[in-house]
Amino acid sequence: MNKRYLARHVVGLKPSGIRKFFDIVATMKDVISLGIGEPDFVTPDPIIQAGIRSLHAGETHYTSNHGILELRRALSAHIEKEYGITYDPRTEIVITVGVSEALYLAMSALLNPGEEVIIPTPCFVSYQAEVILAGGVPVELPTRVEDNFLVRPTALEAAITPKTKAILIGYPNNPTGAEATREVLVEVARIAEKHDLIVISDELYDQLVYGVSHVCFPALPGMKERTILLGGFSKNYAMTGWRAGFAAAPAGILEGLVRIHQYTIMSAPTMSQAAALEAILNGHEHVEAMRNEYDRRRKLIVGGLNQLGLPTFEPHGAFYAFPSISASGMDDDAFAMKLLDEEKVAVVPGTAFGAGGEGFVRCSYATAYEKIEEALRRIERFMRRHG
Ligand SMILES: Cc1ncc(COP(=O)(O)O)c(C=O)c1O
Repeated sequence: MNKRYLARHVVGLKPSGIRKFFDIVATMKDVISLGIGEPDFVTPDPIIQAGIRSLHAGETHYTSNHGILELRRALSAHIEKEYGITYDPRTEIVITVGVSEALYLAMSALLNPGEEVIIPTPCFVSYQAEVILAGGVPVELPTRVEDNFLVRPTALEAAITPKTKAILIGYPNNPTGAEATREVLVEVARIAEKHDLIVISDELYDQLVYGVSHVCFPALPGMKERTILLGGFSKNYAMTGWRAGFAAAPAGILEGLVRIHQYTIMSAPTMSQAAALEAILNGHEHVEAMRNEYDRRRKLIVGGLNQLGLPTFEPHGAFYAFPSISASGMDDDAFAMKLLDEEKVAVVPGTAFGAGGEGFVRCSYATAYEKIEEALRRIERFMRRHG
C-alpha cells in the first residue's frame, strides 16, 4: 500500500524464487523436502559449547569491527595451511554476518552506479540482488551442463564491456554442485588480469568436496591482489544460524569493506565468533564425518536420478544434485509444482538460480539417507506417469 515510499531499485527487486516456492511447501503435510539449502546436521557440540562458554564468560559485548583477532589469526593460518596463501589477520580479514553480509560489503564497496558484474549462472540467488542493491548491473553468463557448468573463457571474454568492474564466481557451486577445475580458474584469472577486473570468489563450501581438491582462486599466481575471497562456517560446519563468515582481501580493498561494515553491522555476533574459532581450530573431524555422510547420499541420489531417466551431472562439491528434467516434457517450474502436488516431493526449479538453470531442478541431499530413498521412490512413480 505504501510501496510508493520505497526506492525504485528496491521495488524492482524480484522476490527469491525459492521463497515463493517454500511458502507453498510450508502449507503442506508429509512433504519430503529436497529443497533445503542448509545442512540437516546440528552444529557439532564442541562448537555449540564454545558459544555457550563465551556467553557465560560475559563476552556479551561488541568485538573489534574486524572481529576477534584470535579468530582472524586462526582463519589466516587455516587458509595458509590449506591453500598456501597469506592474509594479514590485522588488515586483510573481516569477520562478517555470514557470506551474505560479505557479499553485500563487497558489492557496496566496489560498485559505482551502472558498473557491471559478470555472474556465471545458475548461481546462489542473492548474487544478482546484491549487485542491484549496490547500484550495479548484474550481467548473467549462463553456463551449460556440457561444460560441467563451468565458465567458458570465450563466453566470459565476450561478456566484458567498458563498464565491467568485476566477476563474481562461486565454486563449489550452489545449485549445480560443480567444482571448478584449476584449468578453468587459470583462464578466468588470465581474463581478469587482461581486462583489469576484480574477482569476488565465494568459496563458502570449500571443505565440502568429493574426490577432488578445492582450488582457492586468490591462491592462483597474481590473483590475491585482485580478489575478494568470501568464506565462512555456515555449510562446512553446519552453522547457518550462527551467522558468521568472512571476507579476505588486500588491505586497501578490505578497508573499504570494513568502512561499510562498521556503520551497518559494527561487529559480527560475539558468541558466534567464539564458536567459529572453535570450528576452525578443532572442527576438522566433524567436517570429515559430515562430508562422508554427504558423499554417501550424493552417490545415492545421483545414481538414483540417473536410473530414473533424469540425467544428472556428477557434482563434486556442496550438497546439491542438478538433474535435467527434459524427459518429463515440462519446464522446471511446472515439474517442481507437479512433483510437489502429486508426490509431495519438494525440489527447486533451476530458473530460480538464473538463466543457466532452465530445464533443471535442484535436489539438495542435505537430508537423511532414508528420506532420499523415499523421495526417489516417489520420483520414480512420477516419472512413470510423466516420463
Ligand atoms: C553459494 C552461497 N553463498 C553464500 C550463501 C550465504 O551463506 P551465509 O550463511 O554464510 O550467509 C549461501 C547460502 O545458501 C550460498 O549457497
